[in-house]
Amino acid sequence: MTVSGSLLKKAFLLTLAAFLFVFQISVGTASAAELDAETRTLPLNDKGETVTLTQKQVIKGSRLFSATCGQCHLKGMTKTDPNVGLDSEALALATPPRDTVESLVDYLYNPTTYDGEEEIAERHPSMKSTDIYPKMRNLSDDDLFDIAGHVLLQPRVMGSQWGTGKTKF
Ligand code: HEC
Repeated sequence: MTVSGSLLKKAFLLTLAAFLFVFQISVGTASAAELDAETRTLPLNDKGETVTLTQKQVIKGSRLFSATCGQCHLKGMTKTDPNVGLDSEALALATPPRDTVESLVDYLYNPTTYDGEEEIAERHPSMKSTDIYPKMRNLSDDDLFDIAGHVLLQPRVMGSQWGTGKTKF
């Protein structure tokens, strides 16, 4: 074999090794991000029913939350009102409690103040106020379901990094 031939062979093998390495990393990350079924099983309603999100719903919920809610609720906090976080304790202590998928979807139809006294659709994104909040316009009920799932899943993924609520004060 000529010198340039063996160099070429070396270059090829190096490229192959680099490729396999990157492939390995991306596959590794994908499986690390997969949550087991127990983690994906969330309270559905206040009757004690549960729902197990599919891996696809988990990914879609995360993407839609970032796009639609992330501007104000990055990491489960509320930028303009730090007293009302999206962490489990804050949601459980709201009136009515918002710690199930269905009660969160309900919030996105009819958001209220933390004490449940006042309807705030004109200052919180909702399906009632799509004229003011155009990002809500294209969301289906399935989308809202996946967004709600994301909110309930994040404390399990991020722990106390997710949200700060009234109970922390
Ligand atoms: C323009 C900023 C903004 C956007 C965008 C926004 N929110 Fe909010 N959110 C708030 C504010 C402010 C509050 C507190 C309202 C209050 O209680 O007066 C709140 C409260 C909430 C609560 C009640 C929390 C609790 O502890 O009871 C939930 C649930 C919620 N938002 C979910 C969402 C979801 C899901 C989205 C995306 C579809 C979203 N929000 C988009 C600003 C926003």
